[in-house]
Amino acid sequence: YETGILTSKHFPVLKNDRLLKAIKGEIPDKLPIWIMRQAGRYLPEFREIRKKFGFFEICQEPYLACNVTLMPIQRFDFDAAIIFSDILVIPQALKMTVEMGDKGPFFPEPLTLETLCKLDANGAISRLDYVGKAITLTRHKLEGKVPLLGFSGAPWTLMCFMIEGGGSKTQSKAKKWLYAHKNEAHKLLTLLADVIIDYLVMQAEAGAQVLQLFDTSAEYLNKTIYKVYGLPYLKRIRQEVRDKLIKLNLDVPIVLFAKGASFCLDEQAELGYEVLGVDWTVNIEEMKRNPNITYQGNLDPCALYAPKEDLESYVKDMINKFGVQRYIVNLGHGIYPDMEIESVQTFIDTVHKIKTK
Ligand code: CP3
Repeated sequence: YETGILTSKHFPVLKNDRLLKAIKGEIPDKLPIWIMRQAGRYLPEFREIRKKFGFFEICQEPYLACNVTLMPIQRFDFDAAIIFSDILVIPQALKMTVEMGDKGPFFPEPLTLETLCKLDANGAISRLDYVGKAITLTRHKLEGKVPLLGFSGAPWTLMCFMIEGGGSKTQSKAKKWLYAHKNEAHKLLTLLADVIIDYLVMQAEAGAQVLQLFDTSAEYLNKTIYKVYGLPYLKRIRQEVRDKLIKLNLDVPIVLFAKGASFCLDEQAELGYEVLGVDWTVNIEEMKRNPNITYQGNLDPCALYAPKEDLESYVKDMINKFGVQRYIVNLGHGIYPDMEIESVQTFIDTVHKIKTK
């Protein structure tokens, strides 16, 4: 394919700036909407390409990753694209083996106290070079239609997958480190934070216009323990990414999505992130909003199973509660593979029909 355009200079002019306006506190003509996992298995064209290529094969080939990223943009009126990748590309770059099974990703050899010293952070960012290439290519191919998000997993969530070896109902193996092996836990979280910082900076340099940090496993912790093993690392990541980007003359906002961490929304607002993602368990009317922060969320993904009229009323009700300023419409977590294209269409149409001014 055309490697000639793989440069992060001379990107096409952005035509749809609803998302960036919402982040700056300006009121856009329509509310911006994108959904987590928008490039996923609910799309027949994604299921088609997955018959031909492995999951990580798509991630690692910029042309394929770009194509999949564009799929939901070509089909729907979304206001942002998110680069097709996975949070587990970081453990891979640290030289752990990650495979995609029928029930999700798994590690044939999960991390133990003994193998902690084998994680290889040297050169990890260059091993993630393909993500940067995919981002740069996609920025060009988007032709300025919508902004492009990059992302990373947060330290605690990556730690969970690495130690548990896959999904877990309790995260008890990973949590054991927090209570019984504190030094090793901090050593691992520090190593991950170091890589995440450089990874996010690399994505911004490659052309990501917004970044999102996923702390999906925050829901297994509480304020006491998240204050020790979550929040300080999240704060350091935001600060150091900002410092490094200033030197590169870049200013890229970051969304923090700490799923299930409504036990510390006030503390999250102090970390320096421009946007906080909230899951569907948060009551917007009761949430204390920080006036300088944009919020993102939080429709229960399962509301997409509802009949059209019900779905419309759930969406309108949510927007009434959030208001039209400093708000990005999204689900409270990713869309499921068996959800209907028509429901996604209804969700987007309902949002875009609402007058903001
Ligand atoms: O469209 C997008 O949102 C961009 C791509 C994206 C994927 N994963 C693709 C994917 C993003 C942003 C992620 C993030 C991710 N990956 C998270 C954080 C967000 C979240 O959902 O909590 C996590 C925890 C992972 C790890 C992961 N990857 C799991 C647990 C699974 C299995 C669950 C599932 O939905 O199957 C994956 C697989 C995965 N990542 C798929 C996609 C499209 C489906 C796998 C396939 O194609 O076979």
